[in-house]
Amino acid sequence: MGHTRVVTLTLNPALDMTVRADGWQQNTVNSGQDMHLNAGGKGVNVASFLADWGVNVTATGLLGRENASAFDTLFRAKHIEDAFIRVPGSTRVGVKIVDHARQQTTDINLPGLTATPELLQALEAKLAELSANHDVFVLAGSLPPGIESDYYAKLVAQLRQAGKFVALDTSGPALNAALAADTLPNLVKPNNHELSAALGKELNSETDLLDAAHNLLKRGVELVVISQGEEGALLVTPGDIVKARPPRVQVVSTVGAGDAMVAGLVAAHLDRLSLAAAARRATSFSVGNITRLGAHLPPRAELDDIAARVDVSAIRPADPLKV
Ligand SMILES: Nc1ncnc2c1ncn2[C@@H]1O[C@H](COP(=O)(O)OP(=O)(O)OP(=O)(O)O)[C@@H](O)[C@H]1O
Ligand SMILES: [Mg+2]
Repeated sequence: MGHTRVVTLTLNPALDMTVRADGWQQNTVNSGQDMHLNAGGKGVNVASFLADWGVNVTATGLLGRENASAFDTLFRAKHIEDAFIRVPGSTRVGVKIVDHARQQTTDINLPGLTATPELLQALEAKLAELSANHDVFVLAGSLPPGIESDYYAKLVAQLRQAGKFVALDTSGPALNAALAADTLPNLVKPNNHELSAALGKELNSETDLLDAAHNLLKRGVELVVISQGEEGALLVTPGDIVKARPPRVQVVSTVGAGDAMVAGLVAAHLDRLSLAAAARRATSFSVGNITRLGAHLPPRAELDDIAARVDVSAIRPADPLKV
């Protein structure tokens, strides 16, 4: 293994519990068939994909002490360096009750941790410590209660000031604040809906999306990736635009498709890939992930096969070129 270089930050991780109970009824006693616990949250997922790819990765953030064992198991299994701040209480739990017989899913989302000034101070000390031997920081997911919506904007400014490469994947007010700040991340990967909401304008055409991307590039972002679900993604740098369309695959679960794309983009950055090659790699991570359950990549040979089948085309204003 090489030198540890990438940190993922997850301020609002989640423990997902999926219970299968076919034909279950309310207000009575039911039998279940199966229960599965999954340690997640966007930064945890990104760390999981990067670890599968062979990147040395450190995961930090806030983790509830009372239900951390699924996280401990994941970090141990994938050799992810655990730099989470342990917090009194429980990480938020999402309960999913799946009924295969009736093809229904019921979700119950429980509240999680609330950040305090003391916890944020501990977190910032941890980030400063990690800065000594990491140069890429991935800030991912929502902010828990107790954190102001401009918190990512503040961290981005600090990390970039320290010369770090910063990738941001969030949504809502946190994305809005981060995109309105003076110092922007090096890489952002909103989906088209998140970008539209953050900028407060409709982005209906490819031209609208590219205008929005170019505006962010002018203000200091180096790579804007706008994902569009099964449509694929637009990758935009000051000099190039590419569109990456995924091959058709048997979809098992699209959960984490965007997180896999972020991991693929970070892996591409570490290898200094061209934009077209980055588009292929990021899409192969996403598509590889959606063919299985959980935040895992398929074996390298399968990823290579998917990557070869990604349709990557260069876009010049009104002049698409195949690359
Ligand atoms: N149904 C699908 N079929 C094929 N590829 C898909 C599908 N959904 C997503 N992808 C791939 O995954 C990439 C990212 O997906 P998407 O735009 O849905 O991310 P997201 O909205 O950020 O997801 P997340 O819920 O993980 O945050 C897409 O660009 C595409 O390559
Ligand atoms: Mg996403």
